[in-house]
Amino acid sequence: MNAPESLKSLLPAATGPFSGKEVAHESAVLHVSGEATFTDDIPELRGTLYAALVTSPVAHGQLTGPHNGVDKAALLAEHGVVAVFTAEDIPGENNCGPIVHDDPFLCPGELNYLGQPVAVVVAREMVYAREAARKARLSFEELPAILTIEQALEAQSWVMPSKTVVRGDAAAALAAAPHRLSGSTRTGQQEQFYLEGQVSYAVPREDGQLTIYTSSQHPEGNQKEAAAALNLQTKDVEVICRRMGGGFGGKEGNASIFSQSAALAAFLLKKPVKLRACRDDDMLITGKRHDFRIDYDVGFDDTGRVLGLDLMLASRCGPTMDYSGPVNDRALLHIDNTYYLPNVHVVGHRCRTHTQSSTAFRGFGGPQGMFAIETVMDEIARHLGKDPLEVRRANLYHASPDPATLTTQYGQLIEDWVGDQVIAEVEAKADYVARRAEVAAFNAAHKTTKRGLALTPLKFGISFTATLLNQAGALVNIFNDGSVAVNHGGTEMGQGLNTKIAQLAADELGISVSRVRVTATDTLKVPNASATAASSGFDLNGAATRHACEQLRERLAPVAAEALGCTAEQVVFGGDGVSSPTGQFLDFKTLANKAWAARVGLSQTGFYRTPEIGYDPMKLQGRAFYYYCYGAAVSEVELDLLTGEWRLLRADMVHDVGRSINPAIDRGQIEGGFVQGMGWLTMEECLWDARGKLLTHGPSTYKIPVASDIPEQFHVHLFDGRNIKPTPFNIKATGEPPLMLGLSVFFALKDAVGAVRPGSTPVPLVSPATPERLLLAAQALRRA
Ligand code: MTE
Ligand code: HPA
Ligand code: MOS
Repeated sequence: MNAPESLKSLLPAATGPFSGKEVAHESAVLHVSGEATFTDDIPELRGTLYAALVTSPVAHGQLTGPHNGVDKAALLAEHGVVAVFTAEDIPGENNCGPIVHDDPFLCPGELNYLGQPVAVVVAREMVYAREAARKARLSFEELPAILTIEQALEAQSWVMPSKTVVRGDAAAALAAAPHRLSGSTRTGQQEQFYLEGQVSYAVPREDGQLTIYTSSQHPEGNQKEAAAALNLQTKDVEVICRRMGGGFGGKEGNASIFSQSAALAAFLLKKPVKLRACRDDDMLITGKRHDFRIDYDVGFDDTGRVLGLDLMLASRCGPTMDYSGPVNDRALLHIDNTYYLPNVHVVGHRCRTHTQSSTAFRGFGGPQGMFAIETVMDEIARHLGKDPLEVRRANLYHASPDPATLTTQYGQLIEDWVGDQVIAEVEAKADYVARRAEVAAFNAAHKTTKRGLALTPLKFGISFTATLLNQAGALVNIFNDGSVAVNHGGTEMGQGLNTKIAQLAADELGISVSRVRVTATDTLKVPNASATAASSGFDLNGAATRHACEQLRERLAPVAAEALGCTAEQVVFGGDGVSSPTGQFLDFKTLANKAWAARVGLSQTGFYRTPEIGYDPMKLQGRAFYYYCYGAAVSEVELDLLTGEWRLLRADMVHDVGRSINPAIDRGQIEGGFVQGMGWLTMEECLWDARGKLLTHGPSTYKIPVASDIPEQFHVHLFDGRNIKPTPFNIKATGEPPLMLGLSVFFALKDAVGAVRPGSTPVPLVSPATPERLLLAAQALRRA
């Protein structure tokens, strides 16, 4: 279609360089006009059937009777139903576990959470499939369930062994410290709430092959798992994802739950099968962010400097491992946040419960670890009667003759420390000092409304903690009309990865970004790709694309040299073509055509592996991350103590994205991350009933932030930095880190509650800080 006039300004200019420019998202026009094709929009083939899942009605039980407890005959008698499959129908491996293969996609016997899929019902229409699945009755015996972290701690119910990180002698430091505080806090679960729900469309092809269109952050995982389930070779399964309407970690591993069932049904029926979960099923079936219980015991001096810290983290993992290993590792690797902790002992328990198996969510454990240490900082400040910013500052990493003061608890030297600069910048931009006084004056003058202010910093490590995942491939094809198709292993979920890659490829080849098409992710084009996760989508796939382009330039240069009358070394790529030192110019279309005519290969793969990293995942020691991202935010809230309602009055943030390849997209990631972090800590709440049923399984009961929650004063600043590591354009990742800017909203609310009773009594507020919790905390404080 032709873009409307009003959208023309979004379209890229003819010539570059494009890196550093606010090139519009490659799908902006299509998103706005509604023409962007998501998985469910793909025109369906004739004969397509529709699937729905029968799920467990209990948190823990044992299926009894034939067919894995499923009355297949009764289901087949339902209107429009064509087939019913259970675990017994899977020809190969029954698994959707992304790391450890402990997670059957259809329950073979032991029911482990309410919502666990047991059978796939296939029908002529989606409504028939859903209707039949809803009516299904399973035969089972119910068993006692472990639902909460406390029950799991009591029963020592672990999904995998606990891990410990130790530095110095925490016990001795605690015993000797002039001040000591202990307490407990928690963070809640969080639903990813991608706007496009989970969906897969599996299409059988000739000779036993299978194509799966799916909304997935990790098509290669879906490919491998389908091959294992159906006894196929990986080469015979193609998984394609053009884009997702959001993933946020919820489609890193959990897309498999749906792609596996669709693939099974399509393979056995030799018919195309679509499985699109309705929102309630989606929320009941899939995993969320791990909630954590955090117990701390901290010793500190008069200035608030932490001398010794003993922490216990316990997270609710659900029945299977999923990503709980690396998520909990990342929590332990982020309990320092921006602070030098000389003596620390942290243990992380991974609790096995009969609830949805917790999975990846933006930040991947990092936010929970940082919440722990920020709580500690806040408590110390209240205890000493200091401004929390002063205590935070007293504890920052810093350069000194002793390298330890810039070394993390896992032994990694921080080479790119700018945390103090980022804090100073946001402190000034937000006018923190003056506003602290204004807030105090407001609170002195108001009884039933209180204001709160907080500045929180962040440092977030970039790399998959599983070192082997830090690799990527790309395939760049130049056509003889000078247009270019870039394929890479990453996926587009709205974060702008494909736009950034198009900018990079255009600049690497010196052409207009409008010549470049970044194609749908396709597992048969670029093999063995890692999930697009850990914020490293551009770092990894961008570097692989750059590698392919470098090789193509080398091959094109001699062709250009001959046409321009110079040497290959003298050829300059740029301006949508090539030029010689004497000003001769050849446009890229002609160059590509000449290269083709001269039989020069115009297709090239690229590969990248992150250098320098490597650590011991069992001891959690060593160089876990290639580099760090930094940020800091100041939030001010106003709390109504009669209703518990509150408003965010103003938020200021300074965030380090290195050298931004696309400031508009990066700003979008920062705004979205902040708001999503605020949602996690203040309004999004997952509640289960006493038997383990998730009660908050739709937008009517689960509240995410909306446009009206955005403050009128919302100031996002990009820190003027560049990555000291040679990432493409010296960028830093922007996907996950800004979520942790949202911590400032929680601590501003805690500050407001604290104003109810000035002094050193601790503020008993845990996350999410819903109106109910805010009121209860204020009440408890008044009575204390
Ligand atoms: N932004 C949008 N719009 N939609 C998403 O689903 N996911 C986040 C982040 N930003 C997400 C997003 C998460 S969890 C990650 S890991 C990164 O994007 C992944 O993409 P990247 O590595 O290309 O930044
Ligand atoms: N981050 C995000 N996703 C992951 C990671 C990680 O560190 N490891 C495995 N999957
Ligand atoms: Mo993001 S949680 O690493 O998908």
